[in-house]
Amino acid sequence: MAAVSHAPSSRPASAPSPTVRTIRVWDPVVRLFHWLMAAGFVANMFVLEEGKRLHRWAGYAILAAIAVRLIWGFIGPVHARFSDFVPAPRRLLIYSKALLARREPRYVGHNPAAAVMMAALVGLMVLCGVTGWMQGLDAYWGVKWVKELHEATANAILMLAGLHVAAAIVESVRHRENLVWSMITGRKRAPSGDDVVHAPASGRG
Ligand code: HEM
Ligand code: HEM
Repeated sequence: MAAVSHAPSSRPASAPSPTVRTIRVWDPVVRLFHWLMAAGFVANMFVLEEGKRLHRWAGYAILAAIAVRLIWGFIGPVHARFSDFVPAPRRLLIYSKALLARREPRYVGHNPAAAVMMAALVGLMVLCGVTGWMQGLDAYWGVKWVKELHEATANAILMLAGLHVAAAIVESVRHRENLVWSMITGRKRAPSGDDVVHAPASGRG
């Protein structure tokens, strides 16, 4: 898991800047899941015709990806596991206070605030997919609240995704790393100093 790329141990003053040590954090399942969900959402929100065949398939693809990710959260590599990032309330509180004081530590996996955002995004996406599916059932055909809930959840995801992207950019600047690029390559700078490598729910945060 912790494949570490080569790194010079010391360098003369005249040498070019050192290669940054990186470790593999996001495995292919996590990365594929993430970009499939983001692309599927954008397609359904802005590109595909509402309620038509491709829209429904894209919605089902998102739901299938979420089902795989939920299983992966128990059997996947360490940073994909919920046990590595789902925070206990206490840890979330400590992290939030540190965030407000601009002293939050760098997390190698997901930080506690990011984990809460992700749970909200995934939860809303499930609700959106299920209410989309319900609209095709005889029992809910033309039922107004189902249609309204489908629309409302889609709009809520859009708002939260905006916040989520903004937070990823802010944290990238704060910790001098490119988190979006990491979600593409799977690699992040190796931990150092006070970086939090694993964040078990019961641990100190
Ligand atoms: C999970 C991702 C999905 C997203 C983000 C999404 C998003 C949307 C949005 C934004 C609309 C337009 C709402 C409006 O302005 O009225 C819409 C309409 C609709 N969606 Fe989805 N949808 C998703 C999944 C699904 C699924 C899985 C189905 C069905 C299997 C579905 C069926 C429909 C239908 C039938 C409409 C038309 C509602 C109407 O105006 O009568 N959607 N969807
Ligand atoms: C509707 C669109 C999106 C949804 C629903 C979404 C949801 C998620 C989820 C669930 C995760 C956790 C991944 C996992 O552990 O499996 C995540 C992580 C992440 N997402 Fe998104 N995302 C969306 C769009 C984007 C976009 C457009 C970007 C950047 C341009 C982005 C950047 C990131 C980054 C950098 C992480 C990792 C954060 C970290 O290092 O802790 N996301 N996202």
